[in-house]
Amino acid sequence: MKKLVDLISEDVKEAFIQKGYDEKYGIVTTSNRPDLCQYQCNGALSAAREYKKAPIVIAEDIVEVLKENSRFKEITAIMPGFINITLSDEFLAEYLNNMNREKDFGCEKDSAPKKIIIDYGGPNIAKPLHVGHMRSAVIGESLKRIFKFMGNEAIGDVHLGDWGTPMGLVIAELKRRKPDLIYFDESYTGEYPKEAPFTISELEEIYPAASAYSKENPEFREEAKQITYLMQNGHRGYMALWKHMQDVSVTDLKKIYEKLNVSFELWKKESDAQPYIPDMVKYFKDNGYARISDGALVVDVKEETDTKEIPPCMILKSDGATLYHTTDLATIVERMKLFNPDHILYITDKRQELYFETVFRCAKKTKLVNENTKLQFIGFGTMNGKDGKPFKTRDGGVLRLEYLIKMVTDEVYRKIMENRTMEEEEAKEVASKVGLAALKYGDLSNQASKDYVFDVERFTSFEGNTGPYILYTIVRIKSILEKFKQTGKTINPDSDILPAKSSTERELMLQITKFSDMIHAAYEELAPHRICQYIYDLADKFSSFYHETKIISEDYDDKRQASLILMISLVEGILLTCIDLLGFEAPDRM
Ligand code: ARG
Repeated sequence: MKKLVDLISEDVKEAFIQKGYDEKYGIVTTSNRPDLCQYQCNGALSAAREYKKAPIVIAEDIVEVLKENSRFKEITAIMPGFINITLSDEFLAEYLNNMNREKDFGCEKDSAPKKIIIDYGGPNIAKPLHVGHMRSAVIGESLKRIFKFMGNEAIGDVHLGDWGTPMGLVIAELKRRKPDLIYFDESYTGEYPKEAPFTISELEEIYPAASAYSKENPEFREEAKQITYLMQNGHRGYMALWKHMQDVSVTDLKKIYEKLNVSFELWKKESDAQPYIPDMVKYFKDNGYARISDGALVVDVKEETDTKEIPPCMILKSDGATLYHTTDLATIVERMKLFNPDHILYITDKRQELYFETVFRCAKKTKLVNENTKLQFIGFGTMNGKDGKPFKTRDGGVLRLEYLIKMVTDEVYRKIMENRTMEEEEAKEVASKVGLAALKYGDLSNQASKDYVFDVERFTSFEGNTGPYILYTIVRIKSILEKFKQTGKTINPDSDILPAKSSTERELMLQITKFSDMIHAAYEELAPHRICQYIYDLADKFSSFYHETKIISEDYDDKRQASLILMISLVEGILLTCIDLLGFEAPDRM
């Protein structure tokens, strides 16, 4: 189904052609003076130059053609040459009825759907998740849902960090604490136990301890490095411990991601890409892509048009060790081989931008990907505390994601219990849904690249531009619909939404019609905050309408009653679709 703004543009373009002007001037946009009109066309102003006429003359020409068009209630030429448009209520209602009958409210899908891998996890085993991981997960999950909604095949990959010295550090520390573990007995050749010799909490305590200890103890640091090397080269005991770390971490991570309403199609690990490295390195060398620089193997990725210095992409250090780059490149090789995607999208902290630029250039230059494969990076800003500094715990450490969720949920729970009489159990369930909405909406309502302030008070407020306010609107509609059901009346399936009877109703209807336009913008710009903006306006317009309109009344005839119920159901449906794209759900009551 065509977007409303495109439908009107067609008519206006037609008028330009009829009057002998180029149709390119007939583009219509949403009005930036909603107090004067709903849509506007500024084409006469630009056309004036080409046709050497006063803009107002051209605007009047167009208005003359469109005056009788039943889609417009009012169309006027305004000095110096604007065309102001207000739609007829009949046309608006008809458009809403079409939206109501179509799948996904008539939103057209991408005509050339693609296969896309979205890399938006990046947690590291043996290390707790932190706020940056949360942003990646929250933004990535929403983008993945938007891609799917638009008809693409989107595959989310957690890309677990399980390769490198942290693993060696944990094992070295374990060895220091429990030297008698069977894994450290070099003469042992039997099977290792299925049960890990540590819990997730132990694991999370061990890593920071080991990391701190290694800073003051070079011998220990050396040992950890050695262990990492042996582990990566097949040492049985260390490999078994590493496997335990993976299992324990993955079980825990899955729980946390589930709480965040985030799920990954793929649980691939950095270590999965390692087998691709030797052939990749050989390929780089054989084809003359790589050169030796100070003993290290690098690929130059500078381009003539660069205005800033782009360092070469380092593939192997002078001691032959691989780097973060190497793993990401090998992961690209693996993804191309297993999935052959059209597009790979990475979502990480924006400080990694230059890093990814280097990796992408290297992958393109060395033809690890096809010419048309799109490699794209989205960098997000920092989540700050109220003091404007990166969010930390009270003791200054990184905040565990789980505590963050709990903090928000507890606050919502407190509010629910304060205001309402709800059974404790239900209140807990509701709080977990509303808390998640508060957290995710608080994050997603900002443009991703911007820093933002994490403010529990504001995020959990039931008023204003917040997740809870959106949910509150949905819950309110649900309860009206429930009340209507209880009257015993039903809606005739052939009923229609009728033309607006008041300005708040008209405003609400107009906002509803902008759904497809907004989804397309969110998709093209990879911008979930567009969805937030839209639903906040929608909820607001609903609220104004609701305050002055009785939805259920004996005074209404069947048609008017049906129209109101159909319209608020449509608002509910759109809000539910939008929050699903943002990655959270609504409770039945709150
Ligand atoms: N594990 C990394 C970290 O915690 C993030 C990985 C991001 N994804 C990637 N393909 N490099 O910082």
